[in-house]
Amino acid sequence: MMSTADTVAFDVIDGIAWVRFNRPDKRNCMSPTLNRRMMEVLDELEFRDDVGVLVLSGEGTAWSAGMDLKEYFRETEAKGLGATRQAQRESYGWWRRLRWYQKPTIAMVNGWCFGGGYGPLYSCDLAIAAEEAKFGLSEINWGILPGGGATKVVVDLIPMRDAMYHAMTGEAIDGKKAAEWRLVNEAVPLAQLKDRVTEIAKVLLEKNPVALKATKDAVRRVKEMTYDNAEDFLVRAQEAANSYDNDGRKEGIRQFIDEKSYKPGLGAYKRG
Ligand code: ACO
Repeated sequence: MMSTADTVAFDVIDGIAWVRFNRPDKRNCMSPTLNRRMMEVLDELEFRDDVGVLVLSGEGTAWSAGMDLKEYFRETEAKGLGATRQAQRESYGWWRRLRWYQKPTIAMVNGWCFGGGYGPLYSCDLAIAAEEAKFGLSEINWGILPGGGATKVVVDLIPMRDAMYHAMTGEAIDGKKAAEWRLVNEAVPLAQLKDRVTEIAKVLLEKNPVALKATKDAVRRVKEMTYDNAEDFLVRAQEAANSYDNDGRKEGIRQFIDEKSYKPGLGAYKRG
């Protein structure tokens, strides 16, 4: 399935939903129209049986040049407070939706990633960048603070001194530096980016999907918990996962202990 005459393009191939910001002539900056469309696309894909992993990338030279300064800021603000709040809800809404998405998600950062782009970047479970990509909190360069969660994103992901420097200078960093700072998992040359992301997506597609969703949520949830709260939460989260799939883990044990057909330390069990 393909749709390009739109602010968001996507197609589903071999279990992977390739979703793309699709305003390449505007460097994929996020307008209210794009934000509304992205929520619809996420809705459409989330529970489809043929989607096991979602990859978010951008058409053209950008991943996303952040919020659309004309349509999201200037034109929306001109309509008053209600319009501003609505536009914020639409963008924050799909980022939040993506943070807790049913399927594992990978940000494939192919190019420019600025400001508001850090919202969806953080929302994706994993992030793989092109070495050539450029990341920046450019807000300070045009006179605002990094809002829409961007300040929280850098403080959560990178060390304080780097976060402060990044936010105050507005200097862009490349994909290699972003990987060094742990803003992304890794950076590879642009020419290898899609292959590398496909490889990671295939690893995820082999896993038990109930366990994957439980795992990705657990990693985000326990970050804000004490050790004791986390211990308790994880017991309950596993028991809740068992109510959707109580056989997978038993089969995983059986194939290792009885059948000796795989080693859990080295890869996933075969799902029926
Ligand atoms: N908002 C509105 N329009 C934008 C944005 C944006 N964030 N980014 C790019 N565009 C538009 C340009 O105005 C231009 O439009 P035009 O063709 O009608 O003149 C078109 O996209 C192409 O942009 P260029 O600047 O010509 O592209 P170039 O490849 O030379 O530069 C770059 C790319 C570096 C990304 C540059 O466009 C840029 O600095 N964009 C703004 C980045 C930014 O600071 N975003 C906001 C972050 S803060 C926040 O999100 C809250």
